[in-house]
Amino acid sequence: MSDLDATDESAASHGRLLALYPKTGHHPLQGLYLSNELRGCVSADRVYVYSNFISSLDGRIAVAHGTTGEPVIPQDTANPRDWRLLLELAAPADAIILSGRYLRQLDHGQAQAPPPFDKNTPPDIVTFREQLGLPPQPALVVVSNSLELPLKQLLHYRDDRTVIVATSEASLSGEARQPISDDITVISAGKTRVDGSSLVEVLQRHGLNLVYSIAGPAVMHTLLEARVLQRLYLTTVLRVLSGTDYATMASGTQLDPPYDFKLAELFLDNHGPDGIQQLIQVYDRRT
Ligand SMILES: NC(=O)c1ccc[n+]([C@@H]2O[C@H](COP(=O)([O-])OP(=O)(O)OC[C@H]3O[C@@H](n4cnc5c(N)ncnc54)[C@H](OP(=O)(O)O)[C@@H]3O)[C@@H](O)[C@H]2O)c1
Repeated sequence: MSDLDATDESAASHGRLLALYPKTGHHPLQGLYLSNELRGCVSADRVYVYSNFISSLDGRIAVAHGTTGEPVIPQDTANPRDWRLLLELAAPADAIILSGRYLRQLDHGQAQAPPPFDKNTPPDIVTFREQLGLPPQPALVVVSNSLELPLKQLLHYRDDRTVIVATSEASLSGEARQPISDDITVISAGKTRVDGSSLVEVLQRHGLNLVYSIAGPAVMHTLLEARVLQRLYLTTVLRVLSGTDYATMASGTQLDPPYDFKLAELFLDNHGPDGIQQLIQVYDRRT
């Protein structure tokens, strides 16, 4: 039995993670991503964009809802420990990207959770953000081509944060377009759909340099296609879901050349959903 095997049980009982790469040992879940010093990744000439997903072992990040057919995060993979990590990733962000569809799901009460942060946010995350001198809430960037966005939700978030709707020139000039609201900044970032490079440029002009995407596969594809994603955080629950109606982390035209990553960190968590193990992975873009 190796040293790691010998100590694994005791680490698990304390809810700690087993660090597997690049170092071995044990690490508390709390603080794992807060210690990444993401703000240090921002430079004068570069917006730093990162994203995260939770996936089943067979690659499902969303499955069709039983009655509505809308894509939703599988109940069998979502878990509080992964959610804690999502909040830690949001803690240093200037802006959070989500999709028009997610905003509609929020409006229909079908979304997994509201975007960070709200009254349930753990105090240490709030303090972490305060100590960085950041405003209490990151800006919310809603990517949408349809512009069929629930105004109630937009105004709700506008109460305590900057809200930006990112769309295309074509959508903005469409005859059927209704003005959204003077309180919401609407930006054009692409000709017929939002283009990742234009989006990043516009966000930089708004002083938003550390950008965290919590959106799904189409937005992920938009970021990958433009080659602007720098880091991917991935939690893989060691559980196979199968099924035929599902989403993986990126959808769109085939990426040519492919988008390559290198493993930066790897942890084993023995306390995933229903006690299932999950792998916690950090990947950096490989250029
Ligand atoms: N497991 C996970 O970690 C994870 C992570 C993220 C999301 N999800 C789940 O996956 C499902 C889908 O999420 P999502 O809606 O965020 O997915 P998405 O596929 O990234 O977003 C789809 C919507 O985003 C807008 N959009 C995307 N790319 C665009 C572009 N280039 N230009 C203009 N608009 C663009 C469109 O909004 P309009 O229709 O308004 O035009 C489109 O309908 C949800 O159930 C979500 O909970 C899971």
